[in-house]
Amino acid sequence: MKKILITGGAGFIGSHVVRLFVNKYPNKQIVNLDKLTYAGNLQNLIDVEHQPNYKFIKGDITDATFINGLFEAELFDAVLHLAAESHVDRSITNPLEFVMTNVIGTVNLLNAAKQIWGCNKDKVTPTDKRFYHVSTDEVYGSLGDEGLFTETTSYDPHSPYSASKASSDHFVRAYFDTYNMPCVISNCSNNYGPNHFPEKLIPLCINNIKNNKPLPIYGKGENIRDWLYVEDHASAIDVIFHQAKNGTTYNIGGHNEWTNIAVIRLLCQIMDSKLNRPVGTSEQLITFVKDRAGHDLRYAIDSSKLQTELGWKPSLQFEEGLAKTVDWYLANEEWLASVTSGDYKNYYDNQYVNR
Ligand code: NAD
Ligand code: TYD
Repeated sequence: MKKILITGGAGFIGSHVVRLFVNKYPNKQIVNLDKLTYAGNLQNLIDVEHQPNYKFIKGDITDATFINGLFEAELFDAVLHLAAESHVDRSITNPLEFVMTNVIGTVNLLNAAKQIWGCNKDKVTPTDKRFYHVSTDEVYGSLGDEGLFTETTSYDPHSPYSASKASSDHFVRAYFDTYNMPCVISNCSNNYGPNHFPEKLIPLCINNIKNNKPLPIYGKGENIRDWLYVEDHASAIDVIFHQAKNGTTYNIGGHNEWTNIAVIRLLCQIMDSKLNRPVGTSEQLITFVKDRAGHDLRYAIDSSKLQTELGWKPSLQFEEGLAKTVDWYLANEEWLASVTSGDYKNYYDNQYVNR
């Protein structure tokens, strides 16, 4: 697979995947297609933007005519699909945008790939092509105190975000069953790390601690998330992309469950130490606020299939990964200032035009 389209490569996880693929596979051409929404930022990729095997295209996956033309012109061998609207709180305010990008956008990519690869049920699934759909553990819904999400857990999404991701997963599987589309899906737990947009819990609180602003904890902070360092997600994607059989699904996670309040207390300790503040200073910023509507109680991933079948395992303990993340944010004040002010948009919006 020589030419790989990565969608959403200017976003948080996508930028780590683009960097990994561009550096690790110099003989493959990596094309990054991104609309550059508020979450897309080409500053995330400044270190690889001049590499000869990398190209950026600004474009919208909801535009079927554009997508079909792009696939016909570029003849991609593989699609690694990460472009999405990704924030649950935004999905509660504007569900339709999530349907458009996450569902319609995914179906547009599937149709374009099906067309150029000639997929249909009368032909065997192509083995030299790949449609990799990156999804979330949130499609499985919410756990009680016990149990883990496995690849066979029934879908039970609760937010418009997770409902849109669940729908896109179903379409990908339907294209495998109906047209022999050579697809794989992975469902990953919550990521954290560098380049995370500061509307999500961890980067929001890093930014607020730095600026002595309140840390808004929804409800009582008892909801549990299973956190994975973003580079470990990218390494899992690399393994699955190259080794998984068509039609398979893998869960990705690091067995790393934390209540939100415990995450934020740990973050406060790390930041007090890094900012030379007296112990306990940042914790005083914790503020309990109104709970999120339909707030899932607990996510926890069983990634034993991926670990046993494909030999992947996470590389970092949470304490270490969180300290590394804080170091990155403290060393990249300009990045943080530009994304919180929106300056990066003004610059990059003038650099690229829609094809
Ligand atoms: P993100 O919001 O940081 O980035 C999304 C990217 O998609 C942005 O660069 C944005 O500009 C681009 N995009 C949005 N709409 C587009 C459109 N219509 N056309 C083209 N590009 C568009 O998201 P992320 O956190 O990096 O998540 C990436 C993928 O991983 C998503 O599919 C998400 O569902 C999935 N995922 C995320 C997490 C997590 O913890 N963040 C966990 C598991 C799975
Ligand atoms: P978030 O980072 O939005 O990821 P997701 O909703 O996809 O899990 O939220 C992580 C957890 O933190 C989730 O339980 C909601 C909670 N949360 C807060 O308590 N306060 C906040 O300001 C945010 C953004 C999230």
